[in-house]
Amino acid sequence: MFQKQPYTRLANGVNMPLIGMGAWDMYGRQAEKAVMEAIEIGYRLFDTASMYGNETDIGRAIRRSKVPREELFITTKVNNVDQGFDNTLMGFDKSVKKLGLEFVDLYLVHWPLKATRRTTWLALEKLYLDKKIRAIGVANYTQPFLDELSGYASIIPMVDQIEFTPWLFQKSLLEYSREMHIQIQAYSPLARGRKLDDPRLLTLAKKLGRTPVQVVLAWHLAHGVSAIPKSSSRERLMENFESTTIELSPKDVEVIDGFNQDFRVCDDPQVML
Ligand SMILES: NC(=O)c1ccc[n+]([C@@H]2O[C@H](COP(=O)([O-])OP(=O)(O)OC[C@H]3O[C@@H](n4cnc5c(N)ncnc54)[C@H](OP(=O)(O)O)[C@@H]3O)[C@@H](O)[C@H]2O)c1
Repeated sequence: MFQKQPYTRLANGVNMPLIGMGAWDMYGRQAEKAVMEAIEIGYRLFDTASMYGNETDIGRAIRRSKVPREELFITTKVNNVDQGFDNTLMGFDKSVKKLGLEFVDLYLVHWPLKATRRTTWLALEKLYLDKKIRAIGVANYTQPFLDELSGYASIIPMVDQIEFTPWLFQKSLLEYSREMHIQIQAYSPLARGRKLDDPRLLTLAKKLGRTPVQVVLAWHLAHGVSAIPKSSSRERLMENFESTTIELSPKDVEVIDGFNQDFRVCDDPQVML
């Protein structure tokens, strides 16, 4: 329906859509239907994880789609219980089997577990060098984790997927990632809906004639941040995708930057190891 959408070029030259569909907490027929509707709307990026228990459902929808596989961008993640070098290689095989796809576009370390994050990353490098994945990255890596990784990695992650919203504006991590040519991808970009009644957001949305959600997602895009809002409702999927048509003024972006209150909906990775 909407043909044009913004892409980013990752450090290794792979193009990735900036807006995608998150797929946490959806299963079976509901997940399959949501992915198929999202593809019809124009989404090309889908974010799942071994931990979500729905790779089979997401993969089924992708395979049923008439859009060529090369036009779609599928992310999945190493489950925490599968971390470590050999386990990660096996975990990846399990994910690929469940998805039923010949390749994965982006494979992420889901969480920086202290004991195993190094060997897990080395396994991702192997999978990438074996050409089983088009890009590799991490999730929930703060600057200290990225610094540590730089000490042993031969390949710097192409993506860091972190919680990132106007109410959790991780400015210094965003700037640091830019210096390292790491693309930031925002998970829970809508703060799971918990801040959509922020009066400052409502005022801005009214002024712009857009919905609060669209303004939030347009703010991510204005910062060059990829966002993967989750919805299983066709109307909301459309509303979220239409954010790609909005260009905020630098002044509006600055106003939204000021919403920050270090508010999280997920665990703080710096605390939860
Ligand atoms: N790497 C990680 O550790 C990590 C952690 C968390 C999430 N993620 C990924 O990021 C994705 C998104 O994060 P999330 O699911 O936690 O939260 P989110 O996308 O911020 O919010 C999803 C919630 O907002 C609602 N919603 C969606 N569009 C809406 C709209 N236009 N208006 C009002 N409400 C709307 C959804 O309800 P409906 O479905 O009913 O529309 C759902 O309850 C996940 O699905 C997952 O793929 C990754």
